[in-house]
Formats: sequence, structure tokens, C-alpha cells
Amino acid sequence: MENGSVENSGLEGPQSVGELTETLRQGGYLADRGLATALFVALSLNRPILLEGEVGVGKTEVAKVMASVFGRKLIRLQCYEGIDTNQALYEWDYARQMLHIRALSEHQVADADAVDKLFGPKFLLERPLLEAVRAGDQAVLLIDEIDRADDEFEAFLLEVLSDFQISIPEIGTVKAASPPLVVLTSNRTRELHDALKRRCLYHWIGYPAAEREVEIVLIREPGVSAALARKVVAAVQRLRELDLAKPPGVAETIDWARTLDFLGEADLANAQDTLGAVVKDRDDLEVVLDNLQEITSGARGA
Ligand SMILES: Nc1ncnc2c1ncn2[C@@H]1O[C@H](COP(=O)(O)OP(=O)(O)OP(=O)(O)O)[C@@H](O)[C@H]1O
Ligand SMILES: [Mg+2]
Repeated sequence: MENGSVENSGLEGPQSVGELTETLRQGGYLADRGLATALFVALSLNRPILLEGEVGVGKTEVAKVMASVFGRKLIRLQCYEGIDTNQALYEWDYARQMLHIRALSEHQVADADAVDKLFGPKFLLERPLLEAVRAGDQAVLLIDEIDRADDEFEAFLLEVLSDFQISIPEIGTVKAASPPLVVLTSNRTRELHDALKRRCLYHWIGYPAAEREVEIVLIREPGVSAALARKVVAAVQRLRELDLAKPPGVAETIDWARTLDFLGEADLANAQDTLGAVVKDRDDLEVVLDNLQEITSGARGA
């Protein structure tokens, strides 16, 4: 984050939940007491933290901000269907190995040592988990959207998280002196295993209350007026009560406020023109258009 002043002040690690909350705020993130407490404990006791929640409620962002305010490196492992251990741990740089072999044969070097070197540190490509084990407490390891990876990958992660030790047959064992802060996120597209959950502190991030959401909009988009932020938040909170396929997250609220502000709109009188910032599903759009008057006027009732 651009906020250079906080970078140094937080390096020591927070002494209290209140201090952590304030540091995060300076980094542009508003954490409620429950989240701040979970993060404080995770940081102090070296426990991974699992964040589950609705879409776009700040799960990924909090890991980024933690890294930025404590001057740590953010190492991100983005999970997806079919991700395997090579992509998470390390790979051999096959192309460089081939070039090296060709150079060796041109110079007619063929001693055993030269071949051994092919599987030495020079040809090792670090992937996020190895990088994180090496960086230790200088890093925040974000394991994002773990629910997208499959069972086997989860089991493998569990192993890494339990001892922060990776053994590479050709090189040896790499172990973290003190582990990084590990933040796992999940959108709950599937249930995670109990074993993984047991290893982690758990925190559910729901949608923020209206006043808190207004604060979030204003801290993220300081140019937006408080009056506009309140109107947008009221409308978005109403949208979440409708039965939408893709209810808007906080990210959408911020986007909508930014869009309206950019267009010089002071309220939601022309809301239908900017709905693309909040409603991103065709069927949802129809539902919203049918109820637009009621949504934007803040009136109650279905
Ligand atoms: N408490 C908060 N304080 C500050 N900004 C927030 C907060 N919650 C959400 N945001 C904003 O919302 C945006 C979206 O958050 P983020 O991408 O972290 O959501 P997510 O929960 O990871 O969503 P997804 O499930 O889609 O991955 C962030 O860029 C940030 O600007
Ligand atoms: Mg995310």
C-alpha cells in the first residue's frame, strides 16, 4: 500500500487487538473486533487463519493489507481446480536444464558433478509454498480460494502447514525458522475437511452493517461524499435482501459509489445507467429493474 508511514511502525507486531485494528485502518482496511482478534491471535501464536465468507467481503484484501502494514512480503497461492503440488512447491527449470545440457555436450563435459548440478539450486523454480517457507516470518502466505482445489491438494497443504518443512530429494530439507502468517480463504463452494479446519483459526466474514459499509466506502474512495455513500449503501443492502443469484459484495458497493461519483451523480436518480457496477447477472438485472424504484428510494416492502 502507498502508506509508507505505517510500514515501519507495525514491524514489531501489534501488542493488542486495538493496536492491530488501528494499524489495519491506517492501511485502509476496517476490521471488526472478531476479525482483528482472530488475526491478532494468528500472528501472535503462529496459527494459520481460515477466512470464509460471502463474495467480495474483504477476505483476500485483509491478507494483502496485513502484508503491507507489517512490511512483509505477500506470497499468494491462488488455488484452482486441478492445481497440483508442483505448482505449489517447486519445479525444475526444464528449459534451462536443456540449454545447460546442450552447452555441456558442446564442450564435451560429461563428469558426474556437472550432471548433479542440473538438480541444484540454480535450476530450481520456487513456487509459493517453498518461497513462503524460505521467507518465514518475513512473509504473509495467502492461500486464496482453497475450496477450489481438490481433496488431495488439501491433504497435502495440511502436511505443509503442520511443520513448515519441505523436503526436496535432490537438495535437502528446507524449514522455516519461524513460520509466515498464513491466511486461507474460502467461498464455501464446498465444505473443507475437519482436519484442515482444526489446524486453523476460523473466522466468518459476513456483509458489514450499513454504517460500517459507509465507512469502508469512504476509506477506500475518499473523494466520494458521505451523502452519496449512504445512498449507495442503503440501495446495496436492499439488493442483498432480494433473491439474487449474485448478491453484490462490498467491492461492488465501492465500485458503484466510485462510478456515480465519477459521473458527477449526487444520488441514485439515474441508477439504471450504472447498474453494471453492482449487478453482474442478466436474470438478476431483470429482478432489479422491476424493483428499481423501491430499491433506490430506500422504501421498505417487497
Ligand atoms: N473491511 C474492509 N475494509 C476495507 N476495504 C474492504 C473491506 N471489505 C472489503 N473491502 C474492499 O472490497 C474489495 C473486495 O475485497 P476482496 O477482494 O478481499 O473480497 P473477497 O472476500 O476476497 O472476495 P472474493 O470472494 O470474490 O474473492 C477490496 O478491494 C476492498 O477494497
Ligand atoms: Mg478473494
